[in-house]
Amino acid sequence: MAEKHLFLGVEAIWASPRMRDLFEQVRRIAQSALPVILLGESGSGREVIARALHSCSPRHPKPFVDLSCGSLPADLIESELFGHERGSLSAPRSTRPGLLELAHQGTLFLNEIGSLAPRTEAKLLQAFDSAHGRRLGHVRQPRTDVRIIAATSAPSSAQRLFSALSARDTAQLLKIPPLRERPEDIEFLACHFLSQQNPELRFASGAMTALYSYLWPGNVRELRNTVLRSALMAKGPLLHADDILFSPAVPGATAGVAGLEPALIRQALADSGGRLQRAADSLGISRHALSRKIRSYGLNPTTLIERISV
Ligand SMILES: Nc1ncnc2c1ncn2[C@@H]1O[C@H](COP(=O)(O)OP(=O)(O)OP(=O)(O)O)[C@@H](O)[C@H]1O
Ligand SMILES: [Mg+2]
Repeated sequence: MAEKHLFLGVEAIWASPRMRDLFEQVRRIAQSALPVILLGESGSGREVIARALHSCSPRHPKPFVDLSCGSLPADLIESELFGHERGSLSAPRSTRPGLLELAHQGTLFLNEIGSLAPRTEAKLLQAFDSAHGRRLGHVRQPRTDVRIIAATSAPSSAQRLFSALSARDTAQLLKIPPLRERPEDIEFLACHFLSQQNPELRFASGAMTALYSYLWPGNVRELRNTVLRSALMAKGPLLHADDILFSPAVPGATAGVAGLEPALIRQALADSGGRLQRAADSLGISRHALSRKIRSYGLNPTTLIERISV
């Protein structure tokens, strides 16, 4: 069954067992103040998970501060994090609080930390370790209590972060699966985005097969953009396969014949009203082989035949 929640104004939807497990972990981990590392591809929902961690935590009434590290130069990191005192070298004229101070008792989310140059990343981690909450040029050191969540798409940077952040407390590592590894979410997400764009529109079954046969290298962000763009192409109440405007070809983005298998299995189960034997017969495989494939693709036969009800 699909779930739909609102975390700090951002909607999160999932139906796959992997995302259900992930959100259960989120609810558990949210109770502590331990640092969290999110390892996931761009567009997979790292920010959604960070917001969920904050809103499920006792810190939820306090600020959620978001720093996108992508374009952050090394020499600005310290003043961004710690702020600066009037008269300090970097800010002779004004006093500005740092993000750690702004996020006091709340959460600081550092997105795309893996895109920092190694020297900058090292400086940032050192900064956490050496002086929580010290404004540059500040004589006193106000103590700040901030939960750090850092997201990256590179396993090597997740490993470095894990060691660095664990120096103080044991960090938690959460892996966000790419969309192609949780096909059960595609239909619910696609229907949700479609109804946002135009509540009158529905997908024709061929359009859904096309969405399943694509590997979504840009993950949920790409699915959302594709659905919103394609909805403008509909000529009637149904959106057909031909109306789906995928992003310009990315090598390896289509699943090929083998990648169509989950879509074919879903279709067979839907056509057979969820009866495994009948679906297996129509696919020309044994019931046992079908059950194994359903498990290996993470498909759930009961949600496959339910109407979308998110
Ligand atoms: N489970 C989900 N349910 C609904 N919307 C989602 C879900 N996951 C992601 N999205 C949407 O997809 C888009 C990308 O999500 P998000 O910003 O969390 O990704 P990200 O991993 O931080 O990647 P990026 O760095 O590209 O922003 C957003 O519009 C977000 O609302
Ligand atoms: Mg984002």
